[in-house]
Amino acid sequence: MDVQQQVQLQRFNTLNLKAIAAFYVKISTRQALLQALDFAKQQQLNCLILSGGSNMLLPEKIDALVIHIDILGIEKVEEDEQCVHVKVGAGENWHDFVLYSTQQAWYGLQNLALIPGLVGASPVQNIGAYGVEAGDFIESVEVYDREAAVFKRLSAKDCHFAYRHSIFKDHPNRFVIVSVHFKLLKVAQPKLAYGDLRAAMADDLSPENLQKQVIAIRQSKLPDPKEFPNAGSFFKNPVIDEVQYQKLLAIFPNMPHYPQPHAKVKIAAGWLIDQAGWKGQRLGCVGMFAKQALVLVNYDSASLNDVQQTYRAVQHAVKQKFNIVLEPEPVLFNAQGLIQAHEDN
Ligand code: FAD
Ligand code: EPU
Repeated sequence: MDVQQQVQLQRFNTLNLKAIAAFYVKISTRQALLQALDFAKQQQLNCLILSGGSNMLLPEKIDALVIHIDILGIEKVEEDEQCVHVKVGAGENWHDFVLYSTQQAWYGLQNLALIPGLVGASPVQNIGAYGVEAGDFIESVEVYDREAAVFKRLSAKDCHFAYRHSIFKDHPNRFVIVSVHFKLLKVAQPKLAYGDLRAAMADDLSPENLQKQVIAIRQSKLPDPKEFPNAGSFFKNPVIDEVQYQKLLAIFPNMPHYPQPHAKVKIAAGWLIDQAGWKGQRLGCVGMFAKQALVLVNYDSASLNDVQQTYRAVQHAVKQKFNIVLEPEPVLFNAQGLIQAHEDN
């Protein structure tokens, strides 16, 4: 096991935040994971699980062991008339796996093309785009449960998938995901209802074209982190109750909204930020992207503190205008390497 000290994590997080890890190890097997966890125990260190770093906010110094997940492998486990069952190592690149699944004629994940990060993180916030969520196609998740000190499998039901939510959010720091088991379709059932997707497809409704159009739409509005460091949508789309929605609708009749179960309505956070005047605006070196107001960009060597100042100013503006509090989506870590609630900070 090659544990390194004082490792700079800037290139490992898509917001490009400077963050020095006191200890860092890359693990590519379950055995190496156990060794790393054991090392942390001996040294009385917390463990921070790092995957693709595309949905995290890191402080400048992390006094913990950062465990970088690199468990690879894509294996077709079983097949029946309608489905293939595929086990994928947590360290596989998500987008490459989506492209591979399409090549193999395994269908379902095409709407989720071009989402950054690794497969092991996909169940954590139940990644979603264009009307599909990863949880729709996950059968089970293989984890190391640090509380019970065992490897085990959580069924999709056990994972409690919801919009940008899962059991992994309810129990931060408890589970390390080592593989994800997907159930994919042999005959495509394309989901085309989201926004401008159906129109972009024109006459070709094939899964290959679906994947291609999703990629094109995403490239047209989302910034490439290599050019404009970012963590995707910075806030979740807020879900409000019907009464508050009706009040807002009376004032803002063009407000984009998506009806949800239990008399709730999801509102587009990007639209709220846009209307609050923050689209394309910056505070210091951090701003909201001009083509998609929901994406916060680090324009020049920002620290976590700079990011927090800007996003709090955005939250304030939206709260003043709409009486809605936006909740950040990326996971916030503290200097001891533990996941922290945004409101505690
Ligand atoms: P990381 O950022 O490394 O980790 C995220 C969290 O998961 C951390 O708490 C980490 O500790 C935990 N974690 C990661 N791997 C494991 C593991 N193996 N075991 C236990 N815990 C783990 N998200 C969407 O849902 N939809 C989108 O359309 C979307 N678009 C994006 C576009 C851009 C340009 C960017 C930069 C981000 C976007 N995201 C989107 C957010 C992000 O890509 C996803 O949340 C992704 O799943 C994060 O993967 P990651 O490997 O980078 O995870
Ligand atoms: N809008 C504006 N101004 C903006 C941005 C958006 O008015 O600057 C409006 C759009 O016109 C549209 C609505 O807001 O009517 C929604 O915008 P969009 O379709 O771009 O999607 P989103 O709600 O901003 C969500 C996800 C994305 C996902 C896309 C596609 C969340 C928090 N974000 O964005 O996920 O890729 O839908 O499904 O749910 C992520 O989580 O990191 C992410 C990128």
